[in-house]
Amino acid sequence: MNKITLTSPFDMHLHLRDADMLNLVAPLTSKTFAGAIIMPNLVPVVDTKKAVVEYRNRILESIDEKDNFTPFMTLFFKPYTKEFLEEVKDDISAIKLYPAGITTNSDDGVQTIDTESLAPTLNAMAELNIPLCVHGETNGFVMDREQEFMSVYEALATAFPKLKIIMEHITTKDAVDMLDRFENLYATITLHHLIITLDDVAGGMLQPHLFCKPIAKRPHDRDALLKVALEGHPKVMFGSDSAPHPKHAKEACGCAAGVFTAPIAIQVLVELFEQHNRLENLQKFLSDNACEIYNIKPSSKTITLVKEDFKVPNFYEFKRERVVPMYAEKQLSWKVL
Ligand code: NCD
Ligand code: ZN
Repeated sequence: MNKITLTSPFDMHLHLRDADMLNLVAPLTSKTFAGAIIMPNLVPVVDTKKAVVEYRNRILESIDEKDNFTPFMTLFFKPYTKEFLEEVKDDISAIKLYPAGITTNSDDGVQTIDTESLAPTLNAMAELNIPLCVHGETNGFVMDREQEFMSVYEALATAFPKLKIIMEHITTKDAVDMLDRFENLYATITLHHLIITLDDVAGGMLQPHLFCKPIAKRPHDRDALLKVALEGHPKVMFGSDSAPHPKHAKEACGCAAGVFTAPIAIQVLVELFEQHNRLENLQKFLSDNACEIYNIKPSSKTITLVKEDFKVPNFYEFKRERVVPMYAEKQLSWKVL
């Protein structure tokens, strides 16, 4: 096959930032995707209806209307009242919970995740059908953080059976195994975690542009993620976690966490599914499953890729912002038409 058309591809976990960085990166997603779940970890975090509405407007202003792109907004998890959630419900698609201090701009996150103290907000979310997205890491040893968090997912899924819980950017076989154990647990998987392991980050020369939270794990973890993605498992969706940081913040002593994949995600996914002879399942991973899980309608937007060489730029820039994508300067085998 040398041409493929995908309908309404969605990126269910995306960082668009703000100001010049927003203007730089948003068009790179809106060009190829029909919509995306927008992360709320701005400074300050998105935690009011006003902040949600204004951020959505800034996103829409930063992209071409003809791209027909829908930003699905989220709130940063805090203890919210039911009254507030009723008021904001139509403006958001989910609420994102971060353990305090676990990743970029998460200091306002939850200090201890216990089902009792979170119950008022989580019960209200379940009643109002607002999904909970979770950054699932403890502050333990870096390679064990996600695995250690599994007991928290278990407690949340058991205590709030009507709440849809999305395990964001899963990186371990343990997380994959949770999907079949709890009806109300779902997951997003990034592009980079389908491809790299810790070896690619730190096994040779240190690769700052592949450093992210959660850190890439072992080959058997990567293979477990790849298996469910390739089979179009109904509980997993593509969420790039494309997380741009300025070039100087990545190529630094004290490298910021995040891999910037927005401009190459679709092309590399096609290549990956093709390599494994599973192209027929890509539509599920990129759109159909997300529509089911989030109860959203696919848009009429289609995107066609052709099998032609595409050289990834070594950086993208706008005004004084410059950001380096994964696979910078590499040759990819599929190109967006
Ligand atoms: C994300 C960011 O930079 O906002 N970083 C990352 O490494 N993935 C935050 C996050 O999703 O953890
Ligand atoms: Zn993220």
